[in-house]
This record gives sequence, structure tokens and C-alpha cells, in this order.
Amino acid sequence: MPSATLVRDDFRRDVLSGLAQPRKHLPCKYLYDEAGSRLFDRICTLPEYYPTRTERAILERHAPEIAEVLSPRCVLVEYGSGSSLKTRLLLDQLPDASAYVPVDISAEHLGRSAHALKQRYPRLAVLPLCADFTQPFALPTLPPHERRAVYFSGSTIGNFPPTEAVELLANIAHLCGSGGGLLIGIDLKKDVRILEPAYNDAAGVTAAFNLNLLARINRELGGDFALERFRHRAVYNAREGRIEMYLRSLARQVVHVGERGFSLEAGEGICTEHSHKYDLDGFAQLARAAGLKVARVWMDEARLFSVQYLTVVPS
Ligand code: TRP
Repeated sequence: MPSATLVRDDFRRDVLSGLAQPRKHLPCKYLYDEAGSRLFDRICTLPEYYPTRTERAILERHAPEIAEVLSPRCVLVEYGSGSSLKTRLLLDQLPDASAYVPVDISAEHLGRSAHALKQRYPRLAVLPLCADFTQPFALPTLPPHERRAVYFSGSTIGNFPPTEAVELLANIAHLCGSGGGLLIGIDLKKDVRILEPAYNDAAGVTAAFNLNLLARINRELGGDFALERFRHRAVYNAREGRIEMYLRSLARQVVHVGERGFSLEAGEGICTEHSHKYDLDGFAQLARAAGLKVARVWMDEARLFSVQYLTVVPS
């Protein structure tokens, strides 16, 4: 487990440098503290937020086939496992899986979901790992001969700029090794009238999730953000093919994090996340750049979302 102080040092460094840029931004991984992880679980159930239920429906419909390509005795490593709810659909079909390694940045959330999984699958070796998967991390000792499969759901790869996404996919390819594979959820390009509401829900849960990052900075880094002076806003940038999430300053103001002060203009945004949307060709290209080849694609009928199986191209 990463020590709490080390995590906090990274957090401070990233927040201070992100706020010092001409276009202020905060890395999205810090949205997922304990409160943020809970809010994210609520986002996944919102009527406007189509990705989770669509990905789940695709898994439900094709689970036996997907389990077969993953291979019955595989070691399944999940990146950003959260509550591992969709994973159950896979594990139900993989009664002889050698191990399941959920990797997540939120320790409490990970502990709770691992506990629930152990109860549900008493024969399965559940080996939770609290880590930031954007940094190098060591896997627990795994059965050496079994095939490794990585599951990376929720279109989380879309939250990285394409160059970083390629790097992360290449790390995954390395972790899987030859013969291994990656099962990944990829959100597809679509009408802006579906995209934007998914990130601007009427109940305000996404806004609360986004604003929680400021509350976390206040609590953990001695910040003085007044949350009511910021408003959540998500817009689709068609040229870049991505949703951009901002916290917009409602007034001209100066905020502090510890000793450092940062001034914001009225209307200025702090970018907290990008969510890239792909078409099938665009994603296949990205995968190829990382040494992976798209072997299978499953989609819902409206083609809102895709679940794809990628194999490692032998080098
Ligand atoms: N991977 C999710 C996505 O891009 C993450 C997400 C959904 C998210 N809603 C959000 C991140 C709101 C920040 C704010 O769809």
C-alpha cells in the first residue's frame, strides 16, 4: 500500500502545479477519495449517465462469450475496480479463475468491495491492491502459468490524453505478457444531446462529485476554497472529441492552498477532467500504437458504448 504521507505529498505537488498553470487544471484521479468514490457510485446509477448501464447490459448479454476469450483459469487484474459491481458478471462466468486482483486508488472503498467479493466467491483468491495505476506498481505473487487478463472498465482510459493513454495501454500490454489480453470499456462518439447531459445531471450529483475535490483540498492541504463560489460545468469539445469538465469561478477571487495564493477571474475555469470519446477506428489506432490488437468488439444496439477484447501483439 502507498503510505498516506507519500500520497499526500503527490497530491500537494500536483494541486500546486496545476493551479499555477495559465490554464488551471487538477488531475482527475484525486476526485476519488472516500466521499468521491461514493458519489461516483451514485453517478453510475443516474438516468442521464448511460455508460455504466450500457456497459453492464453488454456484459450481461455476452458474458459467456467474453469469459471464454478471457480463458477459464485466468488471473484477472482490474484497473480502477471501484465497487467491482460489473466485474461480478464476469466472475460469475469464471468459476475456475486463478485469482482476482482489484487495483484501486481509494483504500477504504477497495477494502469494502474486496470483502464483499470474498463472501460471494469463497473459492476465489481475491488479492486487493491499493495503488495509483498511472504509476509503476508491483503485483502480488501470482500463479506463474496462468494467462493474465486485465479488465479496465468504464471508459476510464478516455480520461487520459491520447499520448498518456498509449503509455498506459503499453504498460498493460507488458503486464499481460504475450498470450494475455485486455478487456476494456470504450465510450463511443455520439450526439452532443446525449453526451452533455450525462455529465451535467439534473440531480446535481456530478456537480457534487466535482466540487468534492475542492473540499478535499481544503481538508487535506489546508485550502480555503469557498465551494459556493464555484460551479460545475461540462461541455463537449467536438474538435478534440472529448467532454471537458470544469469548476468555474463565479467571481474574481484569490484562493489559498497552504501558503500559496492563486487568483481567479470571474468565469475562469479549473479543468478537472477530460473524457475522450472514440470511434472504433480511432480506438483501434490508439491500441495499435501501444502494441495491442483489437480482437473482438461487443456493442449495444444503439452503439452508445463498446466492450473490446485486445490481444498483445508479439514483439
Ligand atoms: N470514466 C468516467 C467517464 O469519463 C468518469 C466520470 C464520469 C467522471 N462522470 C464524471 C469524472 C464526472 C469526473 C466527473 O465517463
